[in-house]
Amino acid sequence: MRIFLTGAAGFIGSHLARALLARGDSVVGFDDFNDFYDPAIKRRNVEDTRKLGGEFHVIEGDLRDAEDVNAALGEVDVVVNLAARAGVRPSLEQPVLYTDTNVRGLVHILEAMRVRGLKKLVHASSSSVYGGQEKVPFSEDDPINLPWSPYAATKRSNELMLATWHHLYGIESHALRFFTVFGPGQRPDLAIAKFISLIEQDKPIPFFRRWHHGAGLHLHRRHRAGRGRQY
Ligand SMILES: NC(=O)c1ccc[n+]([C@@H]2O[C@H](COP(=O)([O-])OP(=O)(O)OC[C@H]3O[C@@H](n4cnc5c(N)ncnc54)[C@H](O)[C@@H]3O)[C@@H](O)[C@H]2O)c1
Repeated sequence: MRIFLTGAAGFIGSHLARALLARGDSVVGFDDFNDFYDPAIKRRNVEDTRKLGGEFHVIEGDLRDAEDVNAALGEVDVVVNLAARAGVRPSLEQPVLYTDTNVRGLVHILEAMRVRGLKKLVHASSSSVYGGQEKVPFSEDDPINLPWSPYAATKRSNELMLATWHHLYGIESHALRFFTVFGPGQRPDLAIAKFISLIEQDKPIPFFRRWHHGAGLHLHRRHRAGRGRQY
């Protein structure tokens, strides 16, 4: 199969590219190598993937630019959209950037697919869409309308857009709600990678406080089963 893979230089994207190449697929990657974390890590990811051989090309471009997306997307069987501004906390500081990349970026992909008649899309959603939900365990069938961060709101919006483009144009999509993904090459901003690095440096692990509506900052003392950090 021919796969167009956005975010191919990132953590999950580089693992996926390698798995697809190993099973004989051809992969066209798309990434803007931005500095959310050290871009050298992303370039190294791509080099390591290239070393495996197989049909692998990476196009440098920005999802926020419709022309970049249009120019890069060729005749493929499946589009996999992993490119995004990820992370809950930084989205509070840069909500416009997150919305621009994740929401507008997905619309650019959907529109480029529509024009080419491409019908299959796999999209990275996030466990953060469960947001303020109290009921555990979570289920895909839960009605979820309380995204608690700009990042979560972009991912939930993405899911709604996928439904719209399916209704209008028959684009079949699957939104995968990843919980914290870990393994070699994990994003350095994620808790597990941070904990390991701090422990190695013999430094304390910071404990984040939680905001209670109208009540200032308090430690969140009550343990809630199943309510891990959401990414
Ligand atoms: N890692 C997790 O635990 C986790 C959990 C839930 C959801 N997700 C989602 O999975 C996807 C992949 O996550 P990851 O951990 O591999 O993140 P990552 O940051 O390592 O990978 C994302 C890649 O997208 C690229 N990108 C970002 N903005 C772009 C743009 N405007 N144009 C082109 N490329 C752009 C980045 O350069 C990066 O290489 C993301 O959509 C993320 O929101 C990840």
